[in-house]
Amino acid sequence: MRIGVLTGGGDCPGLNAVIRAIVRKGESVHGDEILGFIDSWDGVLAQTFIRLDISSMRGMLPKGGTIIGTKRGSPFDHDDGIDRVRRCFDEQRLDGLVVIGGNGSLTVASMIHEQTGLPIVGVPKTIDNDIIGTDVTFGFHTSVQIATDAIDRLHTTAESHNRVIVVEVMGRDAGWIAAYAGIAGGATVILVPEIPFDIADVCEVIERRHQRGRYASIAVVAEGSVPVEGTMARREYALDAIGRPRLGGIGVDIAAEIERRTGIEARIVQIGHVQRGGTPTAYDRVLSTRFGLAAIDAVHDGAWGQMVALNGTEIERVPLEETVGRIKTVDLELLRDVAQVFYG
Ligand code: F6P
Repeated sequence: MRIGVLTGGGDCPGLNAVIRAIVRKGESVHGDEILGFIDSWDGVLAQTFIRLDISSMRGMLPKGGTIIGTKRGSPFDHDDGIDRVRRCFDEQRLDGLVVIGGNGSLTVASMIHEQTGLPIVGVPKTIDNDIIGTDVTFGFHTSVQIATDAIDRLHTTAESHNRVIVVEVMGRDAGWIAAYAGIAGGATVILVPEIPFDIADVCEVIERRHQRGRYASIAVVAEGSVPVEGTMARREYALDAIGRPRLGGIGVDIAAEIERRTGIEARIVQIGHVQRGGTPTAYDRVLSTRFGLAAIDAVHDGAWGQMVALNGTEIERVPLEETVGRIKTVDLELLRDVAQVFYG
């Protein structure tokens, strides 16, 4: 078979491991030809790709990023987009396409499959871990580890100066990274997009902790967090290339408010794209490899319109349409029954 692969949306560690697994099993077991489309759907529309074979994937297991590039956006951004996708399948004689992406890319894959019947399989990817249908996405574990390593380091400098350090992590619509890195890093308070925060409550928790004596505080904040209406000025965001708020900076506002209200020195660290860079953890290398092997199996089983997923420890297939228009928000019990025990 001739199989296309594309990576869409924000990059993350593990993408190359998925591609490597697809290529290894596709070529060695099935004799497939694998085409890596450059820069996500743009490569499909323009029919720009590179041939991927086992030798070209050497050294890719631990390599962060994606060797075929990625972008945001979709064929639906163009009047003739769907026709050009069809033309690419015809002219490149594609027997299937593996879309490795987050909510946006998988929604596009589902819509194209539903509208055209084209043979498409999905692989769930995002550091945000906000994709319905899979227990976890590859990239998440690595981003949590990167954030936790940073928090561990920040504890010592916060304690040296008896300060509050606000650590802003990624997480647009869901606070999974903040929740896990906050718990793993021993945060005094964790803020997530799912629960609008009252800065007065945040300050009360921090003051309670500092009254114990020389206790520094780490506050972990997801970039998508928002204040309760009327409790704090709402930050205005510019829009990104696909019209979404370009997040980043809520931590700056929170640190300023904490220092103004409590008198305790506060500093801010925005981890930003460091969370998306570099080599995947061992956990993510294994999950990515399993997802890639399951994706090429799904292709050869003709499981079109489905994505591979993790259910417990098992790799399963779920309909792509299950992910459309939905976000897997953070488990609030995790925050209430685990994180909040250690607040203050
Ligand atoms: O979707 C993953 C993600 O890292 C979000 O957490 C973050 O808000 C966004 O991508 C950043 O997008 P970009 O890399 O396009 O600025």
